[in-house]
Amino acid sequence: MKAFSDRSAHLRQSDIRAVTALVNKHNGINLGQGICDLPTPDPIQAGAIDAITANKSIYSPYAGLPAVREKLMRKFIRHNGLPVTTPDQVMVTNGSTGGFVAATFALLNPGDEVLVFEPFYGYHNNLLMLAGAVLKPVKMQGAAWEIPFETLEAAVSEHTKMIVVNTPVNPCGKVWTEEELAALIRFAERHDLWIITDEVYEYMVFDGKKHISPASLPGGWDRTITLTSFSKTFNMTGWRMGAACAPAHIIERMGLIADLVYICAPTPLQYGLSAGLDVPDSYYADLSRDYQARRDQFCDTLDRCGFETVRPNGAYYAFTSFEKLARNRAGFSDGMEAVRTLIQEAGVAAVPGHSFFSNPNDGRYYLRFCFAKEQPVLDKACYQLEAAFGKQ
Ligand SMILES: Cc1ncc(COP(=O)(O)O)c(C=O)c1O
Repeated sequence: MKAFSDRSAHLRQSDIRAVTALVNKHNGINLGQGICDLPTPDPIQAGAIDAITANKSIYSPYAGLPAVREKLMRKFIRHNGLPVTTPDQVMVTNGSTGGFVAATFALLNPGDEVLVFEPFYGYHNNLLMLAGAVLKPVKMQGAAWEIPFETLEAAVSEHTKMIVVNTPVNPCGKVWTEEELAALIRFAERHDLWIITDEVYEYMVFDGKKHISPASLPGGWDRTITLTSFSKTFNMTGWRMGAACAPAHIIERMGLIADLVYICAPTPLQYGLSAGLDVPDSYYADLSRDYQARRDQFCDTLDRCGFETVRPNGAYYAFTSFEKLARNRAGFSDGMEAVRTLIQEAGVAAVPGHSFFSNPNDGRYYLRFCFAKEQPVLDKACYQLEAAFGKQ
C-alpha cells in the first residue's frame, strides 16, 4: 500500500476525545469538551424548520444567501465597528472553521511562517500545518497572559506572512486590549503581515470589558480577515454557521476556496441564522451576564478546591493551575493524571493543559474546564467537585 500524505502526518486524535471516552465510561459530567448544551433560541429553530418544510434545499451561492450577507454586513458595522460598505466584503462560512480553512488556503504557500500565540486553540495550528505553513509560537506571559512584543519581534523573519489572533482566547479567557491590538497592527504593518482574527467568543466578555475587532482599528482593515461564529453565540455548534469579513478581493478568493471545499454553508440553516441575526441587543447583554455568573460560580468552586484560577475576562472556560494540589496531594503529578483523579473522585472531566502549548511542559499544571452548561449540570459539577476536593 502507498503511504498516507505527509501533510496529514501530524494529525492525532485530540486529548479531548480521550477524556470524553473516559468520562462517559464513568458516567461523569464532561466539562472537558468546549460544547455548550444550552438550547438554540426558538426563532432560529423556527427559521430553519420553515425553510426545510418550504423545501429551500438547494445550494446557496458559495458566499451565502444575499439577505444573510446583508444582515451580516450590518452586524459587522454595528457590533464590530468594521468599515464595511458592501455585502461582498462579507461571506457566510461553514462555521468559523470553514472560514479559517478558506483564509489559510487563500493566503498561504507551503513554507510560509505564521506567528501564533500560546496557549492556543489546536485547530488553528493543525489547519495551518495542513496548509504547509511553519508555526512560530509565541507564549503569552504572566497571569494576564500579556503579549510579549519583544519575543514577537524576535520570531518574525522574511518568511513570515501571517499572525493569528484569537480574542477572547480559548483556553485562557484573555480579552485583547485596544492597546495590544493597536501595537499588533503597527507590528503587522512594519513587517507587512496578514492578520486572521478568530472572534467566536466575541459576545462573551465580562466585568465590563469590551471586545475589540482588530479590523476596526486604524491600519487594521486592509490586512485583516475577521472570522466569527454562531456556534457559541446561539448554541448551535452542529449547525456549522459562521461568517468572515474582509476587503472584497480577499472574500472573493476565500469564496472560491470555500466553494471547492464545501460548496456552501447549509442553505436551510442559513434561514435559521437569518432569524438569529434579528435578535435584540439585549440577547447579547444577557449572554455575557449569564456566563459571567457561571464563571463566578465555577471559579469560586475551583478556589475552594485548592486550584488557583485567574478569572477569565471572556469566553466560557476556566484555565486553572493545580500546581498547589500537585504539591499537597497524590493524583495530580501531571495533567492526564489530574484528569483521571477528577473523573474518579468527583465524576467531572477537564482537558489537560499540555494540549494548548507546543512545549507540553508549559501546560503541565493546567486544566481547562468548560462552564457553558445548563444550570443544574453546572450546580451538580460544582457540588461533586467540592464534595471531593473542598477541604484542600
Ligand atoms: C477559538 C475557537 N475558534 C473556533 C472554534 C470552532 O468554531 P466553529 O464551530 O464556528 O467552527 C472554536 C470551538 O471550540 C473555538 O474555541
